[in-house]
Amino acid sequence: MTSREKTVVISGSKGRGSIAALTCYDYPMARVLDEAGIDVLLVGDSLGMVVLGYPDTTHVTLAHILHHLEAVARAKPQALVIADLPINTYDTPEQALATAQQLVATGADAVKLEGGVRQAEKVRAITSAGIAVCGHLGMLPQRVLEEGGYYKKGKTPEQTQAIMQGAKALIDAGVFAIVLESLTPTAAETITREIPVPTIGIGCGDATCDGEIAVVTDLLGSYPWFVPPFAKPEADLSGETSHAAKNYVRRVRAQK
Ligand code: KIV
Repeated sequence: MTSREKTVVISGSKGRGSIAALTCYDYPMARVLDEAGIDVLLVGDSLGMVVLGYPDTTHVTLAHILHHLEAVARAKPQALVIADLPINTYDTPEQALATAQQLVATGADAVKLEGGVRQAEKVRAITSAGIAVCGHLGMLPQRVLEEGGYYKKGKTPEQTQAIMQGAKALIDAGVFAIVLESLTPTAAETITREIPVPTIGIGCGDATCDGEIAVVTDLLGSYPWFVPPFAKPEADLSGETSHAAKNYVRRVRAQK
């Protein structure tokens, strides 16, 4: 399928609650997740924390994302590959377009950026050039330093309305889907019901959006030092890895 066909499939999932998305940062994981039937692989800037060991996503550069995207794209996934525009790479419409073009040239089918009304012109610059854009509203990790932490959004009707305005501005600028992060379930349901593009939720409660995205290390239990309260691990890879490494150490040391 072409990139365009893949985004059409995701857009067509509106109302079905069926989009299963995961972050992905390397070649073997891209192959395994793709063969498991994941719909969307996001080369997200969460890689700053769960792969590179930074405290938050504000340290992630375009070079980091391109390096990991290249590896994911080498797996030639059937899934839609979305790549994040890192902080400081979309400060103007021109810069946003240039960054998006580099991501697509490296193998992304679509790109994602954070924010609503204030990003609409940047989204428009990218979509006008024929590149598919996914929005990201609610809690915005790239703004963690300005906001002084990670806070739940959509707690009041006014906050929900402001997020809705952002969603409408993004839709007007041509996004094909929007990630909603850490909204109250009521806010996520309201926005999902009222907008025509699919919402993909994280930390918004069960069955409140048209799909769900999880950070793959949360799903696999491979980054045990911080696990968000909403994560639902399906494995304990850090435990398994530690067990295997200890067995290896024992085996090697027993040889002499
Ligand atoms: O970078 C990321 O992992 C993300 C998800 C939280 C949606 O943007």
